[in-house]
Amino acid sequence: MDIIGIDPKQHYTKEEAKKYNRSRSIEKIQKNITLNLLNIINLKKSSYVLDIGCGTGFSMEVLSSAGYKVTGIDISESMLDIARSKGLDVRYASFEKLPFEDNTFDALVSISSLQWIQGKNSIEEKDKFRSVALEFQRVLKPGCIAGFQFYPSKEGLSYDAIVSIFHNIGFITEIHTEGEKSTQKPGNRYLIIYNKIDKISKDKNR
Ligand SMILES: C[S@@+](CC[C@H](N)C(=O)[O-])C[C@H]1O[C@@H](n2cnc3c(N)ncnc32)[C@H](O)[C@@H]1O
Repeated sequence: MDIIGIDPKQHYTKEEAKKYNRSRSIEKIQKNITLNLLNIINLKKSSYVLDIGCGTGFSMEVLSSAGYKVTGIDISESMLDIARSKGLDVRYASFEKLPFEDNTFDALVSISSLQWIQGKNSIEEKDKFRSVALEFQRVLKPGCIAGFQFYPSKEGLSYDAIVSIFHNIGFITEIHTEGEKSTQKPGNRYLIIYNKIDKISKDKNR
């Protein structure tokens, strides 16, 4: 879907949210991507995880079933209503203003959501991504990890430009691509970021 210039609150109407939640193929895709990401980031069982752009909660269901304590945020009340009806802990909030204290989460996860960060031009889009990245850094505990899957738009910032924004504010960044070593077309990319600690001590602490 091309989402350039679309406001997510207007896109995810009550009807659209219901349609989204009813789609078994969307559910399967969201859940598979979440499972793949969990295999990459390998969290401790007691981790408190924030799902950013949680939608109707498919990714959150996977995170909960895997044993994590999970809270979700989203900007669409229609999507949140459905997530709430599943008994999930969700709050209304936008990426750039998260209603949490500093250093609250052991991990951040975001599946198919960050492509909604857009600007009128590349400077504005860069500024928005930078504010969001700083907000993520604020709520993520030092030494902890985040994993994001998203679809960068053809017209907007390149994937590498987005990764550089996270890198430039002090995160260690890593990209994992599905099927990287196979001869088939590479699949989803996962941006993994580590908060302000070198990878050697990060590995020791997990
Ligand atoms: C494809 S859905 C994500 C689905 C989710 N991973 C799931 O499992 O259902 C993208 C979500 O990003 C949310 N979103 C878009 N812009 C946002 C923003 N600025 N702040 C918070 N959520 C946002 C949309 O409302 C939508 O629910």
